[in-house]
Amino acid sequence: MARIISSFRPDLVVNTGDISFDGADLEEDLAFARGCHSDLDVPLRAIPGNHDVGDNPGQLDVPMPITEQRLLRYRSHFGDDYWLHDVGLWLLIGLNVQLFGSGMAAEEEQWAFLSSAASQAHGRPIALFVHKPLFHMDPDEADVNHRYVPPDHRRRLMDMLGASVRLVASGHVHQHRRHRVGNVDHCWAPSTAFVLPDSRQPRLGTKHVGYIDYTFGEIG
Ligand SMILES: [Fe+2]
Repeated sequence: MARIISSFRPDLVVNTGDISFDGADLEEDLAFARGCHSDLDVPLRAIPGNHDVGDNPGQLDVPMPITEQRLLRYRSHFGDDYWLHDVGLWLLIGLNVQLFGSGMAAEEEQWAFLSSAASQAHGRPIALFVHKPLFHMDPDEADVNHRYVPPDHRRRLMDMLGASVRLVASGHVHQHRRHRVGNVDHCWAPSTAFVLPDSRQPRLGTKHVGYIDYTFGEIG
């Protein structure tokens, strides 16, 4: 990936997590993952996944929930876990959805950040970067599934951002899928590392490794 990025030289690289294999537990995994990005000669933004900071607590049986210690460790290697990137025609917003349901102070701080970020759109489209997809097929589905953002937090998120959101770009699933609901493209990035066999994970999109190349221009 570093060689591909070096040859294409995009304006920005966004890693939508999981950046590390077991960084939630092992600091050396986070350090190794950060080192893999150290040669990139373009701007980088990252958001953490469950393998980097732990998972949403209270969602099914979560063996490794997000904690203050895990979050601070992640931030010490990768910086802000949620961010705003203004590219002129579009507003790019990265969120740490692993915080949802945690009850941590950072969760409320992120909601306040999001409210302020959304107010800066001034009618411009928003591209939202999150680790987990918001849902499987339908924004109103109520199933609690660790593959997606918890339903009540998804609803609050979509209500807060309103119609400005035109793209939701996610990671997590190790499969690529593009699914349009209303005016919003929900694009699952494939993993750069590996796919899972059908015996371990149902086939929901296409299973291959790769990356997504976005261009943020005028909406026709
Ligand atoms: Fe994940």
